[in-house]
Order: sequence, then C-alpha cells, then structure tokens
Amino acid sequence: MRRPVITGNWKMFKTRAAAREFFDALLPAIAGVDHCDIVVAPPFTALDAAVEAARGSRVAVAAQDLHWESEGAFTGEVSAPMLADAGCAYSIVGHSERRQLFGETDETVRRKIRALMDAGLSAIACVGETLEERESGEAEATVRGQLAGGLAELTGSGLSHIIVAYEPVWAIGTGRTATPDVAAAMHGVIRDAVAGRFGSAEAEALRILYGGSVKPGNIAELMAQPDIDGALVGGASLDAASFESIVRYPAP
Ligand code: 13P
Repeated sequence: MRRPVITGNWKMFKTRAAAREFFDALLPAIAGVDHCDIVVAPPFTALDAAVEAARGSRVAVAAQDLHWESEGAFTGEVSAPMLADAGCAYSIVGHSERRQLFGETDETVRRKIRALMDAGLSAIACVGETLEERESGEAEATVRGQLAGGLAELTGSGLSHIIVAYEPVWAIGTGRTATPDVAAAMHGVIRDAVAGRFGSAEAEALRILYGGSVKPGNIAELMAQPDIDGALVGGASLDAASFESIVRYPAP
C-alpha cells in the first residue's frame, strides 16, 4: 500500500511571519489526521520559520529547488547539505516553472537528485507536458523522456527517496485541472516507465502525485484514482483552511 502524500508548493509567496501564521492555523486543524504524509515547500527565506513552526508535528518541510554542488562560488544558489542543515526533508526538482523560466533541464534534474541523495534528502521530481506537446500527441513521449533523463543515475534503492509529481503545464495556475482519467492515464505511463527501468515491485512502491489546479473541490475525485498517490498543490496550498480541506480529502 502506498501512503498518500499531500504537498503544498508555496512558490514565491509568504514571508516568515505569514509562514508562522499558516502553521499556527494548520497544525491544530490537522492534529488528528494520519491517513497521509503532509509536506509544505516554502520559499528559502521562510524555511527556517517553517521548520521551527512545524517541529513536533506530522508536517515535513521541503525546499522548492537547490544547486547540485555542495558548496562553491555559485552566487545566489543553495545546496542540498544547506537544505538538510535548515531542517528540510525534501526538495522539489524539475518544476515546470524552473524548466520554462530558469533553464532547468533533465540533466540539471539528474544532478540535483544525486545531490539530494548524497545529502540524505528525498526528491519530489516534477514531469509534465506543455499544451503544444499534448495537442501534437507528444505528451507521453515528453514525460517518458523527462523520467529517463532525470532518473538516469538512480538505482532501485534510490527510488525509495523519490516522489514523482505529474504536473501538466497546461493545468498549472490555469484553473484547468486534468480530468481524473487523463491524470490517471499519465500516472499509469509513469509507473510503466519506472517498471521498465527499475522493476515492477519498485514501480508499485513509487508514489506519484498529480499537480495542476488541485482544489478542495476536485481532490477527492483525483485521489479516487488508484494510480494517483497524492497532490502537489500550488495556489490552494497558501490558505491554511483550503490546504486543510485538501489534506482531509476522504472525509470532508
Ligand atoms: P496550482 O495548484 O496553482 O495550479 O500550481 C500547481 C503547481 O505548480 C504545484 O507545484
């Protein structure tokens, strides 16, 4: 049985004070929740405040990105050992906003995943096609290519430190969620690709999240799909009450 994971990606939102307010509201509200793992990814500047606020709770803290070197003359960058030191358990890698706006490639994803493994952290590795790729029938090939490139160095045991997030670019921030069937079909493709590379037992154990306009109103139907193991939530994770209702998807 794969344990579900609900992850909030705050992107470039929230100060330290706003992060504390969020946890002050969320933690009492989810005190009895134990059906899923919960991860929140604040911006770098609020990691410390989030780790402090979440201490002793069931919420883990993730970074949104990292550099693949552990230290060096890389102005503006943050490394995996620094994220571990800050109290992070995960980092997102390969988010489509990083791919589209900041030059992230499958090769940098590969290096970042290796850096996370070396530092004892886990990766939330994002894949997903653009609208043009979907409309030209390239969605599956795109996602298979991103997986092959990003996971190129991983071994089967490393896979237990990976969560894959399928985020179709056309569904991010658009209010246009993939239907549960469309999302589930691509989750099946991802599991098949992972089975081909690592073996079917490893693929069965891999957690695959869906991301793209996940809201309190659509989480239940997405989570009802057997191949969808959780969500990577952007806008709807910024408000504690909305994130709480997503976390509580089976029992509103
Ligand atoms: P939205 O939920 O705002 O569409 O963002 C999805 C996303 O990019 C999460 O990483």
